[in-house]
Amino acid sequence: MSGKKFYITTPIYYPSDKLHIGHTYCTVATDAMARYKRMQGCDVMFLTGTDEHGQKIQQKAEAAGVTPQQYVDHIVGGIKDLWKLMNISNDRFIRTTDDYHVESIKKIFHKLYDQGDIYKGTYKGKYCTPCESFWTESQLVDGKCPDCGREVIDAEEEAYFFRLSKYADRLVEYYEGHPDFLEPPSRLNEMVNNFIKPGLEDLCVSRTTFDWGVQVDFDPKHVVYVWIDALSNYITALGYDNEQYHDFEKYWPADVHFVGKEIVRFHSIIWPAMLMALDLPLPGKVYGHGWLKFGGDKMSKSKGNVVDPVVLVGRYGVDALRYFLLREFPFGSDGNFTNEALISRINADLANDLGNLLSRTVAMVGKYFDGVLPAGRQEDPIDGELLTMAKELRGKYEEQMEKYAFQNALIEVFKVISRANKYIDETAPWVLAKDEANKPRLATVLYNLLECLRITSSLLIPFMPESAEKARVQIGASAADFTWEKAGAFGVLPADVAVQKGEALFPRIDMEKELAALAEAQSAPKQDQPEKKEEPAAAPITIDEFAKVEMTVCKILSCKNVPKSEKLLKFQLDDGSGQTRQILSGIAKYYKPEDLVGKTVVACTNLPPRKMMGQMSNGMLLSAEKDDALHLLMLDDKIPAGAKLC
Ligand code: MSP
Repeated sequence: MSGKKFYITTPIYYPSDKLHIGHTYCTVATDAMARYKRMQGCDVMFLTGTDEHGQKIQQKAEAAGVTPQQYVDHIVGGIKDLWKLMNISNDRFIRTTDDYHVESIKKIFHKLYDQGDIYKGTYKGKYCTPCESFWTESQLVDGKCPDCGREVIDAEEEAYFFRLSKYADRLVEYYEGHPDFLEPPSRLNEMVNNFIKPGLEDLCVSRTTFDWGVQVDFDPKHVVYVWIDALSNYITALGYDNEQYHDFEKYWPADVHFVGKEIVRFHSIIWPAMLMALDLPLPGKVYGHGWLKFGGDKMSKSKGNVVDPVVLVGRYGVDALRYFLLREFPFGSDGNFTNEALISRINADLANDLGNLLSRTVAMVGKYFDGVLPAGRQEDPIDGELLTMAKELRGKYEEQMEKYAFQNALIEVFKVISRANKYIDETAPWVLAKDEANKPRLATVLYNLLECLRITSSLLIPFMPESAEKARVQIGASAADFTWEKAGAFGVLPADVAVQKGEALFPRIDMEKELAALAEAQSAPKQDQPEKKEEPAAAPITIDEFAKVEMTVCKILSCKNVPKSEKLLKFQLDDGSGQTRQILSGIAKYYKPEDLVGKTVVACTNLPPRKMMGQMSNGMLLSAEKDDALHLLMLDDKIPAGAKLC
């Protein structure tokens, strides 16, 4: 087993300022699997990251009045912080805006085009003229443009297509030859019956109606379809078609892609077809896990039914949440999150079963032997069942982990923990302690309990790394006793092991009080307001660089709100050129449009034009900002339009 490579991935996340525990679920599961494989001695590559291109991101950035790059840069930091909080041990983090990834995508697209797997065709769809946007039938809202609500027309645009249809037979053949490729098995039937059998159509893989994406290098008005861009992250992050990394040969193909069930289609049809076209081996497995629901619905920001992992970690600790997520719900099925279920699980399994076993055992070694077990043992047939269970645990656990059955693996661990608690009642150490002659028997009972704790808590490392480590210290085990190899053996602790009393790992929670407190905490705004960071001092620039910026005095001819945008105002400006200049600015929150007409302002007039909410903006109005207050820069009205700032 030692040294075998294991490559595991999460999906790359859309930048959202509010990742909820549904998102956390997949990453925690991947982390547990990666830690488990590392424990076994595998050479693990655990990849996660962010999926940052596409029209939606561009629109969100426009609505926020910032560039898409600024928008994603701001959010990605928060996502990384969340993974730190959740104790996620990813080896690599890819952003689809990373230069090396962009470079690889261009090459991949070009290669597929050169070999005829991508061709130019016509995309037919619905078009909203005022917004200059193409929509598919299913994106329309009541048959109208989803952005502005106006009528749409039938239209066509030039686009590139990937010959997905060509791979249909090979895909079915592959599934048949590799029945474990997609799990759980029900998901495979769904793919074949719903998507492949009705006939796979070629896939439109470029867009021209927005520009926030990887440009097609041989036809720059096209950007690459986000899913082609996103799926390829699994190979570009290893250095495929780029010089950033050099471990593609070592880790590819992935052993498993963990993905939520709604994106199984992309991973089990489009992705394998792309890999076939690139003549690359296919991943060992795509595991489509279920959804975490809240109140019976899939948790999602748009439905407003999200549960914030930051609040839960703040109250119960990261390990309790990690444990709950993987113990409560079978990985392949949907599960309904409730605060009650979370608290019950913490109280029953962690505070009572595990916490009590640890604190009672350590306390008894302290009380009866001053914290150090004496040599001299006295076995009893009553020990047999517990010892057998403890010795067999690693095998049972491994069997479940290899099937990605986290819940069952944890159930096996907790069977031994419960049995050990029962063993305390059966052996009644407090009775044994009354008679000096029983000391060897008492020491044996306590040693057996410590060994059970060593085995169970070492197998909990992938799920609760911090708590497992605390347990290790309390039972007096060395790091060398706390390994995968040693978890398969009984009698590892030294005969004269010394324990160290410590704090309770998981204090019991008062359900009623906590439910009330949680209801309050979950309704309060929190996580997505990142702490204000000190503005870094601007890097020095040369006078020549400064001179490149053209700043022109403009008179505001008209100013209006932009429909559907809370932030944008649309200005028509006299810039002294004789032609009206249109600029969009994200300052609607600070000014009433009518108050600005006639004012003299300054615009940067040599920026490239940019489309926001379907409208062009030719430049940027200058304003000054401090402590959340913003002031449009206004000049003396005597200064003429067209005057340049110097
Ligand atoms: N960017 C795409 C993935 C591209 S992978 C090449 C994406 N991003 S996402 O941010 O919307 O979702 C990331 C993962 O979180 C997906 O696997 C998705 O299924 C998962 N989840 C989002 N909400 C979830 C729940 N409520 N429950 C469980 N997982 C959920 O899709």
